[in-house]
Amino acid sequence: MSNWNAVRPGEVEISLPDSFDAGVYFIGRIRTPFKSREECPKSTAQSTAVGRVEIDPRFAAGLKGLELYSHAFLLYWMDQARRDLIAQVPAHLGVPRGTFALRSPVRPNPIALAVVELLSIEGTTLTVRSVDCLDGTPLIDIKPYFSSTDSIADARRP
Ligand SMILES: C[S@@+](CC[C@H](N)C(=O)[O-])C[C@H]1O[C@@H](n2cnc3c(N)ncnc32)[C@H](O)[C@@H]1O
Repeated sequence: MSNWNAVRPGEVEISLPDSFDAGVYFIGRIRTPFKSREECPKSTAQSTAVGRVEIDPRFAAGLKGLELYSHAFLLYWMDQARRDLIAQVPAHLGVPRGTFALRSPVRPNPIALAVVELLSIEGTTLTVRSVDCLDGTPLIDIKPYFSSTDSIADARRP
């Protein structure tokens, strides 16, 4: 098994601030087939896996209208990632790149972004396609995906 917390040559560790500036509420958990990071797809684009999003019932009213959309953003908290690397050497690149230029789970605030297909909503359980996180990952927000404003066909990337 890989040591996910090991620091590679070229990576830069920082001291994090002594205290937090804000708090978050976990609004639910994402249930996926993936029990280890080795099993996880690297991105939603590499995943057709179906998962369940279990929302805390206190937030149930917030789901009203979500069924109108085919896709949504899940914002989730990559709770098993270290937070103190500000430059990283992804295995597929082999050279350092800044954390804010990467989709790595390792970041000061380990917030992930995933566009998933909404397959069904029953009560406070969403069934979704294209999950790329560990089973039990905490969820911090859901937003509907708008192809009109959230997609830039000619966006540049390396
Ligand atoms: C590269 S991140 C991309 C996440 C998201 N789609 C994004 O772009 O922000 C996906 C990887 O994060 C790791 N991961 C998934 N769930 C995690 C968790 N709860 N804590 C730490 N790492 C996690 C797995 O190695 C997975 O392959």
